[in-house]
Amino acid sequence: MPFPETFLTELTERSDIVDVVSGYVRLTKRSGANLFGLCPFHSEKTPSFSVSPDKQIYHCFGCGKGGGVINFIMEIENLSFPEAVEFLAKRAGMTLPEETEDRESRRRSRMFALNKDAARFFYEQLSTPAGAAAKDYMKRRRIGPATAKNFGLGFAPGTWDSLVRAMRAKGYSDQELFDAGLVRRGKSGGFYDTFRNRLMFPVIDVRGNVIGFSGRILGDGEPKYMNSPETLVFNKSRNLFALNLAKKSKSGYIILAEGNIDVVSMHQAGFDSAVASLGTSLTPEQARLLSRYTNEVILAYDNDGAGKKAAQRAIGILEKLDLKVRVLAMSGAKDPDEYIQAKGAAAFRNLLEGSEDQVDYRLRQVLDKYDLSQDAQKVAFLKEATRLVARLPGAAEREVYAMRVASLAGVAADVVKAEVARLHKQNVRRAQTEAERQQSRPGHLAEAPGRIRYEDEASGKAEEGVLRVLLLDSALASDPSLPPAEDFTVPALRHIYTEVLARLRSGGEISPATLGGVLSAEEMSLLVALQDTPLTAANSERALKDYIHKIYECKELRQKPSSPEELLELQRKLRERKGY
Ligand code: CTP
Ligand code: MN
Repeated sequence: MPFPETFLTELTERSDIVDVVSGYVRLTKRSGANLFGLCPFHSEKTPSFSVSPDKQIYHCFGCGKGGGVINFIMEIENLSFPEAVEFLAKRAGMTLPEETEDRESRRRSRMFALNKDAARFFYEQLSTPAGAAAKDYMKRRRIGPATAKNFGLGFAPGTWDSLVRAMRAKGYSDQELFDAGLVRRGKSGGFYDTFRNRLMFPVIDVRGNVIGFSGRILGDGEPKYMNSPETLVFNKSRNLFALNLAKKSKSGYIILAEGNIDVVSMHQAGFDSAVASLGTSLTPEQARLLSRYTNEVILAYDNDGAGKKAAQRAIGILEKLDLKVRVLAMSGAKDPDEYIQAKGAAAFRNLLEGSEDQVDYRLRQVLDKYDLSQDAQKVAFLKEATRLVARLPGAAEREVYAMRVASLAGVAADVVKAEVARLHKQNVRRAQTEAERQQSRPGHLAEAPGRIRYEDEASGKAEEGVLRVLLLDSALASDPSLPPAEDFTVPALRHIYTEVLARLRSGGEISPATLGGVLSAEEMSLLVALQDTPLTAANSERALKDYIHKIYECKELRQKPSSPEELLELQRKLRERKGY
């Protein structure tokens, strides 16, 4: 544990979850001990986000997220565990204990230093003879030296070990290089550079730390980009390339593109708020990160099928966070870089200023699919377009776009408006039934959306059961018949089980504060959901035995007996087990 347990306990005592959450969510009291509000982690109209002042936990029955106060801050502020602790300590007016400069945070700062040194090494390579190829490539892509410097671009030489050797000389161990994802282990056990013969883009977080790298091949070839693997400080889905620069922009919006070259090219042309995701489609975490710096996002994805699909998906994610979304309609160019190179910065600015509202954009996408001179296609267009308009949240918006659809199709506006109204009502009714259905069975893990699917459902349920009993009655942790963790089939449950047992057996406590540092957000959510699921068995010892029995039974079933003899043997074994 990076923080002493006593410190974490005091911190959570001084950070009442209701106070903290109230800073982000309007909580109201309903019946019972819990407070409810609209979940900040997914979009919803009826509150399914609950906070328990007694247990000091939150739990959303809608999206399944849950945890203690530290998890809440990690999730909502997009912070790591130590960062969230620091955040709360500041809020509570507590000073961090000296020991926080512990192993993990030392490892982190060491990794930042290593990444920075590696970035410097790559940058310096540009001025060596070997770097000529990269310099040539940049010249071809019209990336000037000032831009290269601004982004800290560099070159990873084609040899197998130039970075390894340079970093060893600076005192970094092979293990450190490996942990940072900068080297890989060869078959013979030696290490070789991860990035070779690539144009290097350091990925820098909003605090200015070099957290990882993207390497682009010089010219054509696959894969076009290589990114640092997940490390202690790098997570592709929680960061955005160039956000460190874009966050300083005065433009009032952020431009989201696909490729690093597009971003670099836009910045060079004066559009200093361009960012790109790191080889994944936009994630909710990235969207939340963006929403900290802007309330308007302009999508500048590639002008191809994949880009359009990615844009649609991104629109959905961004809208959930109430971000205004516009889409660039680039014609005659495949991406922002090509557009700027071909038509210049002024043309690109016009494009940005006239970029379509996302509704227009989606409507045009629909329109493009049909030939309206044919009646059958016109009907199909109307059907799809009215469905789209009916999903818009505002009544005025629905009215305006219904009229637009009518005029596009050349039919009477009233007809379209009536159809939109009918569909909208239907949508609302459906959403209500869905919400009621979810509310009527809160805590029912099996129905919670976003719940991990278990490969072996029966075993997974029993594993949940074992954990629930243990959480309820910690004395049972010493029960010798408890199965070894390996018998748990669900990796998340296995990890929770291991941690919970270790704590209970050493006389420790199970609290969100102490577990928050060792369990992932998903695992924490699962744990909270388990604690929130009422256990009906009156006799917890009996319940535990039944769950354990089930786990063994499932295990044996998985070993798929093939012959009748084996089946009989299995039955016999199961009967025997029942005896314990
Ligand atoms: N990509 C990636 N890792 C990154 C950035 C992008 O894997 N760090 C992937 C994206 O997911 C997307 C593609 O690379 O599929 C984007 O490529 P493109 O826009 O073509 O990249 P550019 O750098 O703009 O290259 P080009 O000059 O060829 O357009
Ligand atoms: Mn591109």
